[in-house]
Amino acid sequence: MVLILLACNPTAKETDDPTMSEEQVQKKEKKELTRDQILASEEFYFVPVTEEEKEIFWELGGLLVDESTKRIGGKLMKMLEMQGPSGAFDYCHVNAQLMTDSLSKASRTLLRRTSFKTRNGDNDPDPWETKILAEYEARMAAGGDMDPMLVKDNGGGIRYFSPILIMPVCLNCHGTDAEIAEDTKQKLAIHYPEDQATGYALGDFRGMWSINFAFQQ
Ligand code: HEC
Repeated sequence: MVLILLACNPTAKETDDPTMSEEQVQKKEKKELTRDQILASEEFYFVPVTEEEKEIFWELGGLLVDESTKRIGGKLMKMLEMQGPSGAFDYCHVNAQLMTDSLSKASRTLLRRTSFKTRNGDNDPDPWETKILAEYEARMAAGGDMDPMLVKDNGGGIRYFSPILIMPVCLNCHGTDAEIAEDTKQKLAIHYPEDQATGYALGDFRGMWSINFAFQQ
């Protein structure tokens, strides 16, 4: 149980741990480049996938996103119906991360949800994800296409991304102050003191599914 809580709790993330190796510190610093620094940097870029790669990974990416959406969304709707936002919150808080982690392991990919405004800091984007989130944001603003993408990053990962938009049910926990129930707000304050994922409106770009097929190649 303790482990489950730690996995959900952003305050349990490592900070200035004196036992970290130099490599770990460097990795952490890289992760902590600001969004603007990453967007301006030429260090992280993508190249198109080959036809052969597309044949394998496009369909697989779609299947994994469908399955993940079904697993998270289906249960969420059921919990909302049965127990209201507060019960559904407990479900999301404990299970969302476990569910993506287990699908990730089973599919031998790195599968996650990420966003510019995360609730759980463990879902913060890596540099390549940052570039794609910015791309989707720009497309959204321009009314452009929000289809999934399959690309290869210069770190060697074949990546599948699929945008996530805000639907009516999401507003219970990601909407404006007036849309979120009091007991949900209290739970947010306890479990996610650094929550950034509120204030969304219907149809907003919330974030994306991100799959890295690095392990499969
Ligand atoms: C009952 C409350 C609740 C509802 C309804 C809800 N969420 Fe969330 N959402 C959460 C919680 C809690 C987390 C943090 C889970 C964790 O610790 O990984 C979260 C995390 C996320 C994340 C991962 C990125 C992040 O911010 O950490 C995305 C993306 C997301 N929600 C999208 C949605 C969408 C889209 C909907 C509607 C289809 C939705 N949520 C409905 C409570 C909810």
